[in-house]
Amino acid sequence: MSQEIKNVIVIGASGNLGPYLVDELVNSKFAVSVLTRATSNSAFHENVKVFRTDYSKSSLLEALQGQDVVVSAIATFSTQQQKTIVDAAVKAGIKRFIPSEYGVDTSLPQIPKILPPAQPKVDTVEYLKTKEKSGMSWTGICVGAWFDWVLEIGNGLMGFDIHTHTVTIFNSGDQPYEATNLRQIGRAVVSTLLHLQETENKYIYVNSFTVTQNRVLAALENATQKKWVVKKDTVERLAASGIEKINDGDVSVGTVDVITAAIYGHGAVNNFGEKIEKWNRILGLPDEDLDTVVRGLVEKARA
Ligand SMILES: NC(=O)c1ccc[n+]([C@@H]2O[C@H](COP(=O)([O-])OP(=O)(O)OC[C@H]3O[C@@H](n4cnc5c(N)ncnc54)[C@H](OP(=O)(O)O)[C@@H]3O)[C@@H](O)[C@H]2O)c1
Repeated sequence: MSQEIKNVIVIGASGNLGPYLVDELVNSKFAVSVLTRATSNSAFHENVKVFRTDYSKSSLLEALQGQDVVVSAIATFSTQQQKTIVDAAVKAGIKRFIPSEYGVDTSLPQIPKILPPAQPKVDTVEYLKTKEKSGMSWTGICVGAWFDWVLEIGNGLMGFDIHTHTVTIFNSGDQPYEATNLRQIGRAVVSTLLHLQETENKYIYVNSFTVTQNRVLAALENATQKKWVVKKDTVERLAASGIEKINDGDVSVGTVDVITAAIYGHGAVNNFGEKIEKWNRILGLPDEDLDTVVRGLVEKARA
């Protein structure tokens, strides 16, 4: 383990991603704490120290004092709260801040137009950049779509329904996109803390695999031994409908639409090219096999 980094506090540890981050950090022998809302009923890993906060400056400072790293996996619609956390982190002498990113490449200039709900994420990193001189560095981790999480939910999320064997294919279905399993994100966070210099003050790009919807469908048909029902749509239609819903106040449904469109190619923000090979190698992330992962998910869905 790194000589410099010992104490890590995770925010959003009770969410969809957080438990994987905590698990990987605990297994890598970091001393892990979690920061949770005072009102939250969440349960946590037995080997973590729990700090409750009302997100006031004083309670944040109390929790962050003595920590080396903040790993934020705060909910999408709470990412604007990270600026207050950044301020407390600087005061507490935090060395590295990992903001709640874990998706498409929000460093790109087209993001505000194609993915308006990601603006607070962009603002957080811009704010982190203004704090670099204070000695607190940051790393934004881009992972593309959450592969196992999406398929396990089924229900048509991002087009796939593993329970009814139905899929919506966007455009040709041949658009390559980045996809990452949740545990691989946990490994990427741990490895970032073991490669502090290489990952300092930048976005990094990791995945489990680069896939296409048609390739995923083939793996699913093979694993289920069934022909799936295929519906067709376009990312352009979905993105426009998502923006319309957001503008009409239906923000959460509209956000899912614009994110899904962005995952499958709208705006060219989810195909990281040669950066993937570079960062997976630097961080030493294991290769994962699409067919093996899909078979496991199909078995789990049957159980
Ligand atoms: N690429 C993808 O496919 C994909 C998919 C989903 C999410 N993401 C991204 O991954 C990150 C984490 O997402 P997630 O789904 O794991 O998050 P989540 O489960 O929705 O929420 C994480 C935690 O945030 C805290 N939280 C919720 N509402 C809050 C509020 N109003 N104020 C303060 N804290 C609040 C809660 O922790 P406590 O109860 O402990 O306070 C919650 O457990 C986000 O940046 C999200 O955009 C990416």
